[in-house]
Amino acid sequence: MDMERTARALVASGKGILAADESLSTIEKRFNSLGIPAAEENRRAYREMLFTTPGLGEFISGVILFDETIRQKTADGTPLVEALKRQEIIPGIKVDRGAEPMAAFPGEKITEGLDGLRERLAEYVRLGARFTKWRAVITIGTNLPSRTCLESNAHALARFAALSQEAGLVPIVEPEVLMEGEHTIERHFEVTETILKMVFQALFEHRVRLEGMLLKPNMVLAGNHCPQQAGVTQVAEATLRCLRQAVPAAVPGIVFLSGGQSDVLATEHLNALNQLGKVPWELSFSFGRALQAPALETWKGAAENISAAQKVLHHRAQCNSAARFGKYSSRRESAAQGGRASMSA
Ligand code: 13P
Repeated sequence: MDMERTARALVASGKGILAADESLSTIEKRFNSLGIPAAEENRRAYREMLFTTPGLGEFISGVILFDETIRQKTADGTPLVEALKRQEIIPGIKVDRGAEPMAAFPGEKITEGLDGLRERLAEYVRLGARFTKWRAVITIGTNLPSRTCLESNAHALARFAALSQEAGLVPIVEPEVLMEGEHTIERHFEVTETILKMVFQALFEHRVRLEGMLLKPNMVLAGNHCPQQAGVTQVAEATLRCLRQAVPAAVPGIVFLSGGQSDVLATEHLNALNQLGKVPWELSFSFGRALQAPALETWKGAAENISAAQKVLHHRAQCNSAARFGKYSSRRESAAQGGRASMSA
């Protein structure tokens, strides 16, 4: 399958992406908060639980894996990549090596991982990956972000995307403007518009084929410590206005990150976005926390909770699938909450 077909398959009608590519330190943080020991076997068992959820392929088109996970197997010895393929889910891989403090720019980060990337991509192709992800992190603060930080991250994203396409892999280009902070929704809009324009300029200069990539942006929100929080419709309208300013129509799909929003709010925002009328791209999801959090809380590291946790993940995926059609409702949600309440009882 060529890159354009893979990109379109990842944003197929009613489907979205499960981001399960937490680095070792991030998954440790998530496990720690629930008292689950951060052992390799627990990470493996957790990902097996997620990926073998019955019926997941109806709503999930692709899963983003971490380097450790793409090499792991289910308890019965099936590679996790194979378990995904059995559900008709496309395996992808996070290839950046994390956002590190940017020298001489206090409070800002630059994403690393370009050195040796060509060779790593060749290995990931052999392991079955069909798409890649690279996340840049932009912080809003007093006098932040700097132009240098934005440009450096845009440049790295473009180099990652060009190398991915050279290997036949669909790059998911993720410039995340963090929602942490006191900033207003207007300020979040301004920074998001600026980085998106820089990213598409860099992608053009690096000869990246827009038809064979996906954009993974943040939604445009007020900072989590801003006293004035925006409503669901306001977020959807601001996000769409921003994307229209900056994202070329040749991009097949926009797959939002959830970025620390609650699971239900992320679904509500996606739903409102899809109710706003005609746009040139598919508007879908590539959620990490907003898909996994309730399932992880239900699983708690215990084998006897697997089936209950899978039901929770299935319902979350189904709610987000409905949101892709603008057909999500509180009635649909309450079925999930009923399920969750009885399962945690
Ligand atoms: P969140 O949806 O939890 O923000 O994670 C998505 C992701 O893949 C971040 O790189």
